Amino acid sequence: MKHLLSLEEMSGADMREILDSVASFKGHRATHARPLAGQTWALIFSKSSTRTRVSFEVGLRELGADVLFLNANDIQLGRGEPIRDTARVLGRMLHGAVIRTFAQSDVVDFARFSGIPTVNALTDDEHPCQILTDIFTFEEATGQGIAGKVVTFVGDAACNVPASWMFAAAKLGFELRLAAPRAYWPSPELLRRAGVTSDCDWRSRSSAVTERFTAGSGVLELIEDVRLASRRADLLYTDVWVSMGKEEEAARRLKELSGYQLNADLVGQAKPGALVMHCLPAYRGKEIDEATLEAHANTIFTEAENRLHVQKAIVAWMVR
Ligand code: CP
Ligand code: NVA
Repeated sequence: MKHLLSLEEMSGADMREILDSVASFKGHRATHARPLAGQTWALIFSKSSTRTRVSFEVGLRELGADVLFLNANDIQLGRGEPIRDTARVLGRMLHGAVIRTFAQSDVVDFARFSGIPTVNALTDDEHPCQILTDIFTFEEATGQGIAGKVVTFVGDAACNVPASWMFAAAKLGFELRLAAPRAYWPSPELLRRAGVTSDCDWRSRSSAVTERFTAGSGVLELIEDVRLASRRADLLYTDVWVSMGKEEEAARRLKELSGYQLNADLVGQAKPGALVMHCLPAYRGKEIDEATLEAHANTIFTEAENRLHVQKAIVAWMVR
């Protein structure tokens, strides 16, 4: 049985197989196969969502399934029933589950105890469906593979979205620059998990402003200078400064990340015609400015639409 719990656990070959199958779902939306006919899937969400919720509800229906949306606070999970008991009950009734929650261990445990195909729809650790969509969107828009390209992530480089980007870079062979203050760099432990085998204990080098590592077939660069990080990039990317669950740190984050806004100055550093993406929701004037968001709205909202098509490809791959 296949799950999609993280990009850390997914091979580059599996990512490529999914990416290469998306165009047929996007191009034949009304006529493609319905491999989930007769099945019931559930979305179990402990955090807010617009794109992920709607794209999975619509996509699972288009694949033939009936769909339940379960807000975790409305089921006994929200009152403390263990995830493994919830999983053992739902696994006897459902055919698959899509989970958005805090702890990565909860999606892992759900998959294990439910015995049904399980998708990570965002945890504190990873957002795998988002990054597969972003890569599909890049390749669709440019007509070129992501291998060998330069992706610059600007902002909170220690949250779920850049983590999934790191695993993808190592497995699909591109350069990922993480432009952030040192306090928002990914941990050495995460770098090692992404495939860095050299000394990546950047905390021991107290004044380093740039660190560059080989990871698998890719390159990971941690860099404080956001303009330098953007130079000759093929894709500039950002995410919110205050991820869900970090609201208590909002004031400090807005202050410490204020120099890491994706704006026209950074776009001017990137390759001519470089793409700008945002996983959304966007907070204008914070991680991206209004003019840059609007100038690249076609890419950004195609990226949002592509969640639907990519996730259908993911689920169809899981149940094949
Ligand atoms: N990008 C993303 O996952 O959006 P939602 O939080 O609206 O699902
Ligand atoms: N890093 C963000 C992603 C939102 C889609 C969060 O976790 O809130």
